[in-house]
Amino acid sequence: MKTNFTFQNPTKLIFGKGTIANLAQELPKDEKILVTYGGGSVKQNGVYKQVLQALQGFNYIEFWGIEPNPTVETLRKAIALGKQEKVTYILAVGGGSVIDGTKLISSAIPYDGDAWELVLKPAKIGKMLPFASVLTLPATGSEMNCGAVISNAEKQEKYAFYSSFPQFSVLDPLVTFSLPDFQIACGIADTFIHVLEQYLTVPDESPLMDRWSEGIMQTLIELAPKVTADKTNYEAMAEFMLCATMALNGFTAMGVTEDWATHLIGHEITALQDITHGQTLAIVLIGVMKVLRKQKRAKLLQFGARVFHIVEGTEEQRIDTTIVATEQFFRSIGLATKLHELNIGAETIQAIKDRFLKRGTHLGECGNVDGMLTEEILNECL
Ligand code: NZQ
Ligand code: ZN
Repeated sequence: MKTNFTFQNPTKLIFGKGTIANLAQELPKDEKILVTYGGGSVKQNGVYKQVLQALQGFNYIEFWGIEPNPTVETLRKAIALGKQEKVTYILAVGGGSVIDGTKLISSAIPYDGDAWELVLKPAKIGKMLPFASVLTLPATGSEMNCGAVISNAEKQEKYAFYSSFPQFSVLDPLVTFSLPDFQIACGIADTFIHVLEQYLTVPDESPLMDRWSEGIMQTLIELAPKVTADKTNYEAMAEFMLCATMALNGFTAMGVTEDWATHLIGHEITALQDITHGQTLAIVLIGVMKVLRKQKRAKLLQFGARVFHIVEGTEEQRIDTTIVATEQFFRSIGLATKLHELNIGAETIQAIKDRFLKRGTHLGECGNVDGMLTEEILNECL
């Protein structure tokens, strides 16, 4: 272990069949609760009914309509409602977007200024309302981390910020059976790439973190065909759900160098073209691997050997084969791996380059992914 670190993750995980009923014991009795939801999938799959049952006797109100890639415009309405109703606790019921949105709501209800200020300057976050979640989509890890990604529809911007962790999160894999195939594919890609953002950097920093990461990625590769063949396979969906949580709750990041260039470039594609998060990553990662193959050489070889069992040929050939295997993996779950498949071309690349140059953006483990290098990466993705 090369670097000192501090680790603390306070979120209690409640995992398994029928666990939504546990809300009745876990939620505080004397609080005024705001329950936040997305667009209504929970009404079709029985989650809403289970939540209502568990909330009997609690003092709560609801806010509906937190959209995928939650916008500050929608969240301002929830914040205004929360202030007006003097809520003291929040329960998010949904995917990463509802949980992320809830993190901003819980930071902004006690704040006097506009919520967007908190996204741009999280240091302004003071007191936060406590919150918890019922997760319905395995992907982001938001159920057990303190990150949130918020969009500004008016400005066509999307930024991550860090606040605090859910007090507890309920993960019942049964609720994932109703997920659309595309969302499952995006969730698998998001999980896989969360691991890679914390792994595909500097070699020999921690054998434990490496093997933990490789274990999650191998598990996902093993699970993917089972999950895509039958999303009502409980064992496979349960394992996938836990992979997603473990991929971004800090457990694979202890003392190691992180990258996040793929994510931050992906956020720009979502902001400008409204493409689903996991789908943007499956495209950008391939470009990052190609353009940064020298810088990531040792880790690319290790990743290829240990995750895809690529051990034949010269080092250059093994890296080529590893990049192809990664792309094949994303294609096997039904995702696009090229920008043109989504009708995205040079105009968007230019817009992202201009933004990064204007902002002075420097991403990645070496801080060398600026506007110019981002253009090179995205040109590889065309
Ligand atoms: O809104 P509803 O009607 O609930 O439908 C949702 C939404 O349309 C639907 N869905 C969710 N659970 C379902 C379901 N449909 C059927 N059955 C279920 N059980 O799926 C759609 C997508 O939901 P969303 O919450 O947007 O997906 P996801 O969990 O992938 O979240 C994406 C957001 O999280 C951010 C992304 O940037 C994006 O904004 N991320 C958050 C991170 C974090 N907090 O740490 C890290 C990630 O890297 C990511 O950036
Ligand atoms: Zn992600």
